[in-house]
Amino acid sequence: MRRAETQTRPAEFMVERIPMSRPFVNEKMKQVAIEVIESKRWVKGPNSLAFGSEFAHHCGALSAVPCASGSASLIAAMRLLDIGPGDEVIVPSLTFFASVSCIKIVGATPVFVDVEEDYWCLDSNEVTKVISPNTKAIIGVHLFGQPYSIDSFEGIPVIEDAAQAHGASLDGKTAGSLADIGCFSFFPSKNMAVGGEGGMLTTTRPELAERLQSWVDHGRIVGKGINELSTNLRISEIQAAIGRIQLRHLDEWQIRRNQIAHSHTIVVDENTHLISPKVRTGAIHGWHQYTIQCEDAEQLFIHLNNRGIDSRIYYQTPCHMQKVMKTHKQYGIGNLPITEKLCGQLISIPVHPFLRDEELSRIHQALVDFCPT
Ligand SMILES: Cc1ncc(COP(=O)(O)O)c(C=O)c1O
Repeated sequence: MRRAETQTRPAEFMVERIPMSRPFVNEKMKQVAIEVIESKRWVKGPNSLAFGSEFAHHCGALSAVPCASGSASLIAAMRLLDIGPGDEVIVPSLTFFASVSCIKIVGATPVFVDVEEDYWCLDSNEVTKVISPNTKAIIGVHLFGQPYSIDSFEGIPVIEDAAQAHGASLDGKTAGSLADIGCFSFFPSKNMAVGGEGGMLTTTRPELAERLQSWVDHGRIVGKGINELSTNLRISEIQAAIGRIQLRHLDEWQIRRNQIAHSHTIVVDENTHLISPKVRTGAIHGWHQYTIQCEDAEQLFIHLNNRGIDSRIYYQTPCHMQKVMKTHKQYGIGNLPITEKLCGQLISIPVHPFLRDEELSRIHQALVDFCPT
């Protein structure tokens, strides 16, 4: 049990909790869901098709196809690049495990690299050190919404894990159009959601664009039969219809996330115990999470919890130290020093666009008052 769960909250802070996210629901979403139900076209319908093209247009990708989840999009990306046993895929360890499980599931080997000390994303210098003849792809994670540094690596295909980066951009290019393949999640807490599970695959490569649709649908091309081995990774029509509504709001939510993040930073920078997140030059951060670096993140967690403010420590265990990796040669302490130092020091606080002014003030006051013992 966490220390925080054993503490009783002081009476003066018995107020409504401030959650990490507040899913958006409006009348239009309900209406389109009912329309889909009544149409009886529950899968493979017009909404799935339109959601893909509207999303591609939004992020500037050549093509996009919605699918069952962010994890499904990552697995499809692996198969689209013909990655399998004997192949290596370079990936950061400071991420949600889905960035790694997709590699293992297709029988390939993850090669973990450390992250940049400032931005917490894949370190390009480390990547070049581990490229081998077996390297088939590189997965860059836009962690917390921060675009990773887009470099090209000897023509090796790059996959953007953009699960946390809807609306983020780098040098004028939006996440989803920065590399060969982009993978998004619409898990309910993400910057946009679909009222259930969902994900999106994007590509900038013409030869992959033709295969995306087939990959989420059993490897089938209408009229040409089954050409590649895949399975059902499709999204359902209700989710696609809801996603189309949410996509229309993404830009305005993004602006609000940016404003809130900016106001957090002003307060965090006043507290010498806390380090605010840096934004890469040329980047618009997606602010999926506003993440503070703090040597005693657990103490900050308890402090915020006592004030009725939710927070999360992402990630307490790096991927290369998860038990399921125990036969991997990079398993264990000492392999990725920056990642290992950051795990346990990074704490995310609410930054969602539906925070009320009174809630923002409470968060800011709590940050001002934080003083580790
Ligand atoms: C970085 C990252 N990659 C992949 C995923 C997987 O997405 P999903 O939960 O939709 O399968 C997530 C979800 O939290 C994520 O944060």
